[in-house]
Amino acid sequence: MARSIRFHETGGPDVLRIEDIAVAAPGPGEIRIQVKALGLNRAEALMRRGTYIETPALPSGLGLEAAGLVEALGDGVTGFAIGDAVSVLPPVSMVRCPVHGELIRFPAEFVVKHPPGLSFAQAAASWMQYLTAYGALIDIAKLTAGDIVIITAASSSVGLAAIEIARQVGATVIAVTRTVRKQAALLAEGAHHVVASAEEDLGERLRQIAGTRGVRVVFDPIGGPIFEPLTAAMAPGGILIEYGGLSPEPTPFPLFTVLSKRLTLRGYLVHEIIADAARRDAAKVFILDGLSTGTLRPVIAKVFPFEEIVAAHRYLESNEQFGKIVVTL
Ligand SMILES: NC(=O)c1ccc[n+]([C@@H]2O[C@H](COP(=O)([O-])OP(=O)(O)OC[C@H]3O[C@@H](n4cnc5c(N)ncnc54)[C@H](OP(=O)(O)O)[C@@H]3O)[C@@H](O)[C@H]2O)c1
Repeated sequence: MARSIRFHETGGPDVLRIEDIAVAAPGPGEIRIQVKALGLNRAEALMRRGTYIETPALPSGLGLEAAGLVEALGDGVTGFAIGDAVSVLPPVSMVRCPVHGELIRFPAEFVVKHPPGLSFAQAAASWMQYLTAYGALIDIAKLTAGDIVIITAASSSVGLAAIEIARQVGATVIAVTRTVRKQAALLAEGAHHVVASAEEDLGERLRQIAGTRGVRVVFDPIGGPIFEPLTAAMAPGGILIEYGGLSPEPTPFPLFTVLSKRLTLRGYLVHEIIADAARRDAAKVFILDGLSTGTLRPVIAKVFPFEEIVAAHRYLESNEQFGKIVVTL
């Protein structure tokens, strides 16, 4: 038996339980992992509340990110040995493959061996944020030196990963956060400009920064009323990649801006990259290289012990965090 995070009803953090479940031997092509650290994601809070893109089958497991040691190998698995330090790529289905437990089975194809020196906490904080940001900025938008990019929800784990990746390719980064509270930390993480959208005139500030040239790439998980100032700041032919729905308000469609500037508005799920072997491999090379050389360094907001999973989820939904919340076992 192994302890696992589960919930029997949807709702707030208090619905989470730690329960003993049986974890079978790994099947063909699978690895069983003794988990040492978990990464938390907004998607897990949404699934727990029953508002995620997948509907949980109750009682349900949870979790998209984990790192640990290879404990057993299924038939046909090559390239791994018992005791290897590994982490998992986010499963395409959290319902079928939840990873927040102390012992998990996972398809070897989506397990990654760690670069030397990467801690379990760093590894558990890496794959969702870097794959999501890489897929949007590099694979899809082809961000490059000389581009200006707007990154909203900039202090989120994905937002900070996007800042690092955009800096790495030489783009100019405009980070958007709601208040000035996280401004200094965002500048320290590499943002060239920071706009506090709840305290400043977003449209005016973006006009001041991007001028007549405009912004070629917008990477946004919020939607809602900021859609209008964001698109107004864009350059002709620019692309806005929408990857979440944090705003509870309706999102206007800025028809004449989109039309006159020939803008691309692109929905995006990281699953698009994970499910495509060639694109996934290119992403892994980019990210493993960054983690090995230190150009990518996951920002960890806070670490909680496994027993405090409810407090960790409360903190996730407080929006106080700056970076990734990690849980250790
Ligand atoms: N499409 C995909 O494949 C994919 C993959 C991963 C994540 N996501 C999405 O990306 C977003 C970030 O995920 P994460 O796990 O990195 O989140 P996180 O670390 O929990 O991010 C929290 C931050 O988001 C901002 N935020 C929260 N609620 C907001 C609201 N109502 N309006 C504006 N900003 C708000 C705040 O940043 P400030 O304090 O800086 O304002 C907050 O600190 C989520 O929407 C998630 O669902 C999508």
